[in-house]
Amino acid sequence: MERTFVMIKPDGVQRGLIANVIGAIEEKGYKLVGLKLLQLTSDKAAEHYIEHKGKPFYDSLLAYITSGPVVAMAWEGPDAVKGIRTLMGATNPLEAAPGSIRGRYALSIGKNIVHGSDSVQSAEREIGLYFSPKELVGYDRGTDKWL
Ligand code: RTP
Ligand code: MG
Repeated sequence: MERTFVMIKPDGVQRGLIANVIGAIEEKGYKLVGLKLLQLTSDKAAEHYIEHKGKPFYDSLLAYITSGPVVAMAWEGPDAVKGIRTLMGATNPLEAAPGSIRGRYALSIGKNIVHGSDSVQSAEREIGLYFSPKELVGYDRGTDKWL
């Protein structure tokens, strides 16, 4: 069983896509184990995207991700990191599979609706950035045995 971090970015919130993004992940079978709405500070955004510091798109990425509230979530399931990256689609919506979240809802790489951890190690770090251990809720669902 694996956990991953997902964020609905400011464009997803502003465009009224919170339910659609959560629905896509929930319908697939993953289990929501942490959820909060928050406004990122510049410091938090810099910590989140530290791997991209110095890249040409870094400043615009930080401006974008702090431009409005975001929804931070932790999701659980078998191979959740890779599975949710697949559900999200490629970084550039032009290359994202048509049925994926980015393929359905996004037009440009700079406003691509959703973030998902890219490895188990990133997932642990990112979940820790947004949630304290007691804010993560593990539980059984009656449907777990059907997945
Ligand atoms: P994310 O971290 O947001 O889930 O996206 P990702 O893994 O699919 O892509 P990543 O390489 O981590 O890039 C982070 C975000 O930076 C913006 N970006 N712009 N203009 C560009 O070439 C470029 N490359 C990346 C995107 O908004 C991307 O989601
Ligand atoms: Mg990334």
